[in-house]
Amino acid sequence: MLEKFVIEGGKKLKGSVRVSGAKNSALPLLAASILSDDGLILHNVPDVADVRTMLKALELLGVKFDFDRENGTLEIDSSNVKPVEIPYDIIRRMRASVLLMGPLLARFKKAYVYTPGGCAIGARPIDLHIEAFKKLGATYTVKEGYSVLKTRKLKGNYICFDKVTVTGTENVVMASVFAQGETIIENAAIEPEVEDLCRCLVKMGAKIEGVGTKTLRIFGVKSLGKAEHTVIPDRIEAGTFVIAAAVTNGKIKIENANPYHLDAFLSKVEDAGVEIETGDDFIKVKGVKNLKSVDIETSPYPGFPTDLQAQFMVLMLKAEGVSRIKENIFENRFQHVQELKRLGADILLDGNIAIVKGGKALTGADVMATDLRASASLVLAGLFAKGETRVHRIYHLDRGYQNFEKKLKALGAKIKRDRD
Ligand code: UD1
Repeated sequence: MLEKFVIEGGKKLKGSVRVSGAKNSALPLLAASILSDDGLILHNVPDVADVRTMLKALELLGVKFDFDRENGTLEIDSSNVKPVEIPYDIIRRMRASVLLMGPLLARFKKAYVYTPGGCAIGARPIDLHIEAFKKLGATYTVKEGYSVLKTRKLKGNYICFDKVTVTGTENVVMASVFAQGETIIENAAIEPEVEDLCRCLVKMGAKIEGVGTKTLRIFGVKSLGKAEHTVIPDRIEAGTFVIAAAVTNGKIKIENANPYHLDAFLSKVEDAGVEIETGDDFIKVKGVKNLKSVDIETSPYPGFPTDLQAQFMVLMLKAEGVSRIKENIFENRFQHVQELKRLGADILLDGNIAIVKGGKALTGADVMATDLRASASLVLAGLFAKGETRVHRIYHLDRGYQNFEKKLKALGAKIKRDRD
């Protein structure tokens, strides 16, 4: 059953909100659980649709788990894993299921994962993952739609990524934990989620040097053991609430957040005039009447995250003046623009640059969510548009935001979930 959000704009947000654990950390960590038979205990796991999809995939592989959805503790028993196929039905729901390739290859010397297609925000190939697996000694073929990876034995090698790839780095780190000798990954992604995965793998017994840097050295070990780990806070969810407070002229405290992971984003939000105060695990946001327009361009961490580009655009719709937003990571990540225009936004697209003319009043309308972060931007626009905004197809949003409307409601927003 399709659902929509109905939002009455114009309510100032106030109070405090707690962000969930990072979806993009939880997914590789869940995949990593199959590297050991001794089990993994994870805390702060977000109860979002993508996590449920990964759990479904793990169940197919024979994993047993106990997920306390209220407090986010997930106990995983991976003692009976078998390298069965990860079918189309899983991969079509979530591309990040490709994260199972690395651990399956490492543990069973073979992986059968349905080949992902393009997606709403771009072509998103996995050629860099595959090239790296081959360098470790795997063969790759496509059979009846499945990507088939096989090896007799994985051996450490030197891998230099042409382009920074987050899940590519994660996949290759997981593939190489048992590879004979030393694997060097150059131009590794340094996103906090990659670091979180490496830290957990080290707790499980992997030997990884350079964690959190662009050069990772992995020394193959024989096996991994039991570990317990707390998932880092979701920086994208935290950033989304920053914008929610700013566009409604509100004043909120975001708890269980890590402001250091949001440096580039927060400094742009401050440049726009929003008042920000941070502590080790919180962000306080106070909206101001007159916002300034600011230019941004997305880039790999520690640059401005592409996953907050759509939300930042909504902030710029409130700022007086013209702002230039350049998307450098995904070639088709402006689908929110057409939808925002339905609310009265003045945005011009020129290739991978959006020219946003802010300061115009928006009015509520029916809009359609097209991908996860685009949906969040439509909700944010609805929070300050005059009248009622109905955001359709919110299943995209449910993939990555836990209790989004409940959290917004608790902050004073007028938002409800309805049948479409
Ligand atoms: C991850 C995040 C996603 C985020 C993105 C960029 C997860 C589950 N998802 O996605 O939320 O938006 O990082 O921060 O963590 N590329 C290739 N060949 C490859 C792999 C990637 O050309 O083999 C290209 C992609 O098309 C894209 C760029 O590299 O243009 C970066 O993509 P990548 O970092 O791999 O994104 P994901 O890991 O899929």
